Amino acid sequence: MSACHESIRLLTSTRTNSILGIRMSTRIPILVLGATGYIGGSVLARLLAHSDRDEFDITALVRSPRNAARLDSFGITTVIGTLEEAGKLEVLASQAHVVFSMADAKNLRAIQAILRGLRKRREDTGDLPLLIHNSGTACLNDDARGMYSSDVIYDDMKPEQIEALPSSQPHRQVDMAIVEADQRGYLRSYIILPSSVYGIVSGPLVNARVQNPYARLMPHFIRCALDRGQVGMVGNGVSTWNNVEIGELTDLYMILLETLLAEPEKAGHGSEGYYFAENGEHTWCELSRAIGVALRQLGISKNIEPTSLNEEEVAKYGGTLEGGYALGTNARCRANRARALGWRPTKTTNDMLDSLKAQSQALIMEQQAKQQMMM
Ligand SMILES: NC(=O)c1ccc[n+]([C@@H]2O[C@H](COP(=O)([O-])OP(=O)(O)OC[C@H]3O[C@@H](n4cnc5c(N)ncnc54)[C@H](OP(=O)(O)O)[C@@H]3O)[C@@H](O)[C@H]2O)c1
Repeated sequence: MSACHESIRLLTSTRTNSILGIRMSTRIPILVLGATGYIGGSVLARLLAHSDRDEFDITALVRSPRNAARLDSFGITTVIGTLEEAGKLEVLASQAHVVFSMADAKNLRAIQAILRGLRKRREDTGDLPLLIHNSGTACLNDDARGMYSSDVIYDDMKPEQIEALPSSQPHRQVDMAIVEADQRGYLRSYIILPSSVYGIVSGPLVNARVQNPYARLMPHFIRCALDRGQVGMVGNGVSTWNNVEIGELTDLYMILLETLLAEPEKAGHGSEGYYFAENGEHTWCELSRAIGVALRQLGISKNIEPTSLNEEEVAKYGGTLEGGYALGTNARCRANRARALGWRPTKTTNDMLDSLKAQSQALIMEQQAKQQMMM
């Protein structure tokens, strides 16, 4: 029996129904937010395939009734609702020993509702709940607009560096509220900050058409290139970001969960519980150029060299001007805390650049399918 399994057995056998609250379960109650998403669906798929799956009592909050029905067939409980339904979120959180918050890194009201629910759980049952939250390295963004590469590299073993970031930085208000809750002692918090996540997800949730298989960031540049006929970049594209492959990010989630269930004191929490996820760096120009190469290989365009986007294009392809300029920031970090836990990613920046052809092909096919449906 694994250490993880043994610890779960002890946890479940010593709990009573009153400790577990309304659901009256004797298994570990886990709440998954973002279960249909690229990251959240990948984590859910791993929970479903876990060797201790029988010990997990998984509930997912899902927006669409159709997706909820599809997820029901995987043996989890689904609740139809949104992050905006604070009361529902609070009740669901109060019923969970572990909350995986992977839906929206910037939704402060939603996290406040989750925190209220977890505090209630602590007060009512004495259980010390665990909040595993998905943030992102956009909190490290500067205003380089593609014009320079920064030598500032954030290290998650130096939380004072992260804590010095102002609350105006992306995701910071949410992350700060979470760490404050940990400091108040009614939960333990673990914040995973993925850099740019890449790779197309496959697996049962994608096959069931319930999970988004595609990353967020790279498609911006691919759509931009398809639309303007040439790859683009913000400024000169010399600013630097990190990257992490989706399967390896999910490995980190599982290593963290297994550590928390087997040897919780091994994993830092609160201000010691920021976990960057990265295994390599790239400049935006390298990323755009690789898309150019991919589009040439696919016979879509001839010119592989990216050109600078004008201000109108930055706003158009970034959603807003601010969103567009975010695609030209520096956000450099090292995932030292995750590695200290035993996380061993092997996919590198070359794998990320190689992945762009499949990502481009998938997007082109998606666009063609949409056009055919409109005809
Ligand atoms: N992908 C990356 O490279 C990356 C890197 C760092 C940080 N992040 C952050 O991580 C988070 C998740 O990213 P992702 O790539 O997994 O996104 P995604 O594929 O769009 O998934 C988002 C998930 O959250 C759910 N969701 C979103 N808003 C909701 C709401 N108001 N109420 C209920 N459910 C809601 C979505 O449900 P539906 O299926 O109903 O839409 C979906 O399940 C985002 O905040 C993102 O900024 C992503």
